[in-house]
Amino acid sequence: MNPLRAVKGMNDILPEEVARWQRLEATYRETVRRYGFREIRTPYLEPTSLFVRTIGEATDVVEKEMYSFTHRDEQLTLRPEATASAARAYVEHQVHGKEPISKWWYLGPMFRAERPQRGRYRQFYQAGAEIFGDPGPGCDAELVDLLVTFFHALGIRDLDVLVNSIGGPETRAAYRTALVAHLTPQKDGLSADSQRRLETNPLRILDSKDPRDREAIEGAPSLSDFLTDADREHFASLQRYLTALGTPFRIEPRLVRGLDYYTRTLFEIQGAKEKLGAGSTLVGGGRYDGMIAELGGPNVPAVGFASGVERLLIATEAAEEAPALDAYVAPLGAAAIEHALVLGRDLRAAGIAVEVDARGGSLKSQLRRASALRCAVALVLGDAEIAGGVVQAKALAEHAQENVARDGVVAWVRARVDGAKAGASAPRAGDGGAT
Ligand code: HAM
Repeated sequence: MNPLRAVKGMNDILPEEVARWQRLEATYRETVRRYGFREIRTPYLEPTSLFVRTIGEATDVVEKEMYSFTHRDEQLTLRPEATASAARAYVEHQVHGKEPISKWWYLGPMFRAERPQRGRYRQFYQAGAEIFGDPGPGCDAELVDLLVTFFHALGIRDLDVLVNSIGGPETRAAYRTALVAHLTPQKDGLSADSQRRLETNPLRILDSKDPRDREAIEGAPSLSDFLTDADREHFASLQRYLTALGTPFRIEPRLVRGLDYYTRTLFEIQGAKEKLGAGSTLVGGGRYDGMIAELGGPNVPAVGFASGVERLLIATEAAEEAPALDAYVAPLGAAAIEHALVLGRDLRAAGIAVEVDARGGSLKSQLRRASALRCAVALVLGDAEIAGGVVQAKALAEHAQENVARDGVVAWVRARVDGAKAGASAPRAGDGGAT
């Protein structure tokens, strides 16, 4: 019998990895709290039509990537993203009647049947946020600022912020006509996907990486020439605000993104290509001013983003040098175990994360484990130490050791641990998160 395995593209997150996830989640929670967002949790299953209507029929997500099925008489889909779900919830609960502006965040699994590779999975997690009720562009700039703050707090500094404006529906309709007129004479030279898209969703051709398409796109009319005066003013203000916030950004006129619901502001933040490869887009977002009305609600503007958590974890791999545990207590011999247990409890009461090794192995094997757990200090307790009322205290990174009086050992460890944290580059959950 073949052993059972997880579904392709869907990963287990084992206990040794969960700590990194939790640190990232805590940093995200703390960041969004400071920007005034509240958490929303929506179901993982939604009516299929929700995504077809909002994301758009001729997008990769709806055409090829959704996990959809019929259950009894209902057409259901495992959510490929959470923006449409948040908008549905906003309309369904008539939130616009309760408050003028709603700022929501979420963190959870999304499902897309894509070809799995590093940074691209079929079940993946997004940390996202949506703002309903503010036409921008002040809040658009603030979302980008929030993201840069969050990434810096995670220790990710190699960032490329791309922004663009694609205007409203009229702008896009006029541009679409011009783009089709430019590409149609070259249709036979386009990739098969783009030939099809020329009819269904020509803007997506701008996104294509295929060299045949890239050539045809050269010299295509630019969307920015089609923006209305109001769109232009909106985009100019966004740039002014980002500059005032000190956020470096680049205008990318070819940025269109793969979901149909966007209007005006679009942005993406790319991380280091060498590390992330094909999955270098850490976050995508933008404005979707038409969605609430499309779902039967009032005319409420909206903007948001979603960031791939696995990609952030890949980007933080090297930045994370903070110790996982603070202190390791190593008793030598059976009589020392009870003293070790009490010492462990005293340290924990002072807020220090401690492993007490009550298995009683050799000193060498215990110190090896202390290093594997990246403890800042190891505390050795043998018969001689107990008789002398001291603890043999080792600062592992400095390879230094001294005997410390038992009643001074908690303060000694506290000082070492604080020193180790101050030297670490990435913030840790519980340290106050983002700064
Ligand atoms: P998206 O560009 O489809 O936008 O996805 C946002 C981010 O989710 C990507 O930049 C990437 O980091 C991550 N991501 C997407 N697909 C995968 C995958 N298969 N595996 C791993 N990570 C992935 C949205 O989802 C919009 N809802 C964003 C938004 C919110 N726009 C307005 N509000």
